[in-house]
Amino acid sequence: MPEPARLVILVSGGGSNLQAILDACERGELPARVVAVISNRGSAFALERARRADVPAIHFPFAPFRHLPNARRVYDAALAELTAGFQPDLVVLAGWMRLLSMAFLERFPNRVVNLHPAQPGAFPGTHAIERAYEAFRRGEISETGVMVHLVPDKGVDDGPVLAWEPVPIYPDDSLADLEARVHQVEHRLLPATLRRLIVKA
Ligand code: GRF
Repeated sequence: MPEPARLVILVSGGGSNLQAILDACERGELPARVVAVISNRGSAFALERARRADVPAIHFPFAPFRHLPNARRVYDAALAELTAGFQPDLVVLAGWMRLLSMAFLERFPNRVVNLHPAQPGAFPGTHAIERAYEAFRRGEISETGVMVHLVPDKGVDDGPVLAWEPVPIYPDDSLADLEARVHQVEHRLLPATLRRLIVKA
């Protein structure tokens, strides 16, 4: 049996997608092991989920770097060093809310996977679900989606698409309804896409 793939997951929030990955590993559906979870936010519930699963949970805040020259580059290089120490086969951005620069990305070419709660090319950046919801209310779009993609050297919400799925929006949806529907798709699509990457590698 080959060794399970080593995953480092970067998070900033609740970690429901981290949980979906942990659960898929636990059920044997994903031949992988989460070897570390790193968050820029100490209060991220994702860190608690990691601790409950006996996975190293590391808070790595930007604040101590903020006043250094080239703060972003220095932080990203230090984050890359920390991440590389866990020897990941893949680095997964699962609700990671900071743009990563070359100083991080060049350490893991073609190995950084991002989850984006919209269709390819749509609503890059933050609050994508909310922006899709508003665009639907204005009659500009009829559906939204979820995409999983590789992060190229220069951007977070673009790069080769590994998988995507449409998510319908209904006229009487509240924003919370739509968020729940998007997350449901994310929780299935992200582990399934990681599985495909790992099994093919
Ligand atoms: C997800 O919707 C993801 O697509 C976006 O941030 C959210 C993170 O949710 N980038 P969670 O922390 O995994 O619950």
